[in-house]
Amino acid sequence: MLQKFLNLFAKSKNSIGDVAQYYDQWTDRYLEVGENLIEAYRTKNINELLNYYIQSMGLKDGMHLLDAGCGVCGPAIHFAKHLAVEIDALTISQVQIEIAQKLVAENKLTNQIKLKRGDYHNLSELYPANSFDGVFFLEALGHAQYPSKVILNTLPVLKEGGFLYIKDFFLRETDDKQGKRNIKKVKKNIDKSYAYNTLDLHEILTAARKAGYKIGYIKSPEFSDDIEIRVEFEKRNNIDIFKGVPPFIPNDWLEIKLLKDSSYNHNFHPLLHLKQTTCCFFCN
Ligand SMILES: C[S@@+](CC[C@H](N)C(=O)[O-])C[C@H]1O[C@@H](n2cnc3c(N)ncnc32)[C@H](O)[C@@H]1O
Repeated sequence: MLQKFLNLFAKSKNSIGDVAQYYDQWTDRYLEVGENLIEAYRTKNINELLNYYIQSMGLKDGMHLLDAGCGVCGPAIHFAKHLAVEIDALTISQVQIEIAQKLVAENKLTNQIKLKRGDYHNLSELYPANSFDGVFFLEALGHAQYPSKVILNTLPVLKEGGFLYIKDFFLRETDDKQGKRNIKKVKKNIDKSYAYNTLDLHEILTAARKAGYKIGYIKSPEFSDDIEIRVEFEKRNNIDIFKGVPPFIPNDWLEIKLLKDSSYNHNFHPLLHLKQTTCCFFCN
């Protein structure tokens, strides 16, 4: 009985194995329509989008970065071509690793981009502590079975002053009963069609704040979405996320930038710098 109940719960989310299998089978289909970028919310011109990310994340020469959920390294290759950065690129899909290895070699970037197959839930086991100036998830965190665990595990691998950047979509909210039902249905359709576990903004922000991250920004992407590629992909693959529901916008697309700033946690208060033995109400 208990096992049946646990199985029911387990099936309500896509597992890490489901996601690996999904990308092993579906990567070719993405590359047919979207060049080397596997993203839904995008500009048609890939360079425009990737230059936007450089600016939005604040990527600079000399940085060591982790592309968590790197696809076939379309973004990593662009960043490494335009900046003197080193990038560790991680994906759960063996098929993507093989395609990415070829692309990185063709672009003569093997010195700058290092690929690894692995699970981003375990970053702190995969990379040494204090390795990266930035960790980014480009439409990748939404596959996580345990997003809070992923966020917690990013912190040790970041250097002090480093950033965590997430671009993804988050479930919308409403008090309207029918609206709630529709959001739930579309979430189910999206998660099933894309091996996703659509993110909840509260959960992500709570995990980030508990981990001790300082919020840099939360904003809507500052480029206009071109839906042509997404529509073509769904048409070719018979995907209808609005099955049984009138079309509406079920998600908010957001960029979130979080900062590792050790002075920013509950054990610290500026008054302590004044060498007072007791601080304020909050610290005592
Ligand atoms: C929508 S694709 C985005 C790919 C890439 N960021 C891009 O912009 O083209 C999602 C990526 O996340 C990766 N991914 C999903 N779950 C993962 C996990 N648990 N560990 C590592 N990578 C994962 C997939 O393998 C895939 O590469």
